[in-house]
Amino acid sequence: MQILFHKDFFTESLQDNSLKGQCQSLFDKCREKNIEGWILATSVPEIIQTLQKEKLTNAFKEWLEVLTILPLTGNELRDGLKEANNYEFYLIKQAISGFRLKAVLTAHPERLQANGITAIGCSNFEDDISKFLSPVSSVPLVNVPATHHDLWNDVEDQMAGVVRSGMFILGPKVAELEEQIANYCQTKYAVGVSSGTDALLISLMAAGVGPGDEVITTPFTFFATIGSICRAGALPVLVDIDPVTFNIDPKKLEEKITPKTRAIIPIHLYGQCADMDPILELANSHGISVIEDAAQAIGSEYKFKRAGSLGDYGCFSFFPTKNLGGFGDGGIVTVSKEENYEKLKLLRVHGSKPKYYHKLVGGNFRLDALQAAVLCAKLPRLEKWTKRRRENSENYNRLILENGLADKVQSPQEIFPRHIYNQYVVRVGENRDSIREFLGQNKIGSEVYYPVPLHVQECFQSLGYKEGDFPVSEKAAKETLALPISHEVNLDQQVYVIEKMKQFFS
Ligand SMILES: Cc1ncc(COP(=O)(O)O)c(C=O)c1O
Repeated sequence: MQILFHKDFFTESLQDNSLKGQCQSLFDKCREKNIEGWILATSVPEIIQTLQKEKLTNAFKEWLEVLTILPLTGNELRDGLKEANNYEFYLIKQAISGFRLKAVLTAHPERLQANGITAIGCSNFEDDISKFLSPVSSVPLVNVPATHHDLWNDVEDQMAGVVRSGMFILGPKVAELEEQIANYCQTKYAVGVSSGTDALLISLMAAGVGPGDEVITTPFTFFATIGSICRAGALPVLVDIDPVTFNIDPKKLEEKITPKTRAIIPIHLYGQCADMDPILELANSHGISVIEDAAQAIGSEYKFKRAGSLGDYGCFSFFPTKNLGGFGDGGIVTVSKEENYEKLKLLRVHGSKPKYYHKLVGGNFRLDALQAAVLCAKLPRLEKWTKRRRENSENYNRLILENGLADKVQSPQEIFPRHIYNQYVVRVGENRDSIREFLGQNKIGSEVYYPVPLHVQECFQSLGYKEGDFPVSEKAAKETLALPISHEVNLDQQVYVIEKMKQFFS
């Protein structure tokens, strides 16, 4: 739950010794109950000016450390003048609706309530707040704005830096992110690109894949994996998946290698790495490139090595719902060979070096500097978020057992630590669609990744595959369901999800 702290909460309490202790304890209670506090940016200078007289700014500074400063836009401040008599209330209402806040904590709730604003007073805080902390009644699959409180001021800072510099295309912010991602993924280099899809396409191009070549992957993945192979002009050759990890089954790989095979794309689906040792061994012995589709797997590991550092190219997506997501599309390719790095950089800008002298036909595959700014603010939090996802997965595993659901709901298994749970995908059998519907009726978000394996998609009919060719993928497509697992999902919400699953089966 998120609330706005009214300026009077600080000015009045800090100037009145009898109120100071009470307000400090309210503040501590908010933190205890995971209530996240915002303060209007316009209130901050006003509070500091009031307190300066009283030499009380230090106490306020401490409170400010845990509050997020809520900025209204210049136009919102201007528009409020149309309601000059209610300017303060207008700004508060804008803040509440813009940032989906539940209430305002104030020394004078009646003033705000009289103006149609939900306000909580300091004296009745415990009772009033408990009304908002009602039992869980919905769990979205992902809730991107729920993280804004943690992020907002850092994102704002990073984005303002880029906007003020006017350097929107590549430039220092993209370079900064590339260095940090390479470091995080344990590679020498990283090249920021326009999306996870383009990360795959540019890697195939850099690996020299083109017409007449074959590229091996699985039919149980997001469309982009196979779509990129086709866009590079090559032929996708498909191999079925392992039923436990949902990743490429290395035992079925060798028989698909031909003299035309130019690359293998193992997908680290849902955030768990494919079994890379046998794949790399086969690729090395046949001189084939390995392009990791790590779009869902930033930070996942295989035998203590990070995804993206295992093959020749590591392709990541910054789609907003990924563990590290931007405020829009974006992606990155990680590499350790200098030659591959140079080629990727060239292909990213239409093969042009120097400008307007084209050595290769590439594309516009650039990552926006503004996306890089958002990601630079988010990356330092990624480990904390991964830890939360892993804890959430353990909670689900435990709740499924404790509720006697283990024979009906198969939890995902971590075969190659560490799984980073971009998705928590359970196998629930043929009832999957009715379970999903039941969860939806109870306002629980879930998703099927993916309902139609790619070998039976209409646009791939020319590949000559048919239903029944990849039985493990086909079964997974019918039986699996992703439950809410993001870092913002809390234990109470997970209990609610499993309670509803239990209700379905009872
Ligand atoms: C396995 C996989 N590969 C590739 C992509 C493509 O990434 P993007 O959406 O950033 O283009 C995705 C995105 O969801 C994905 O899940």
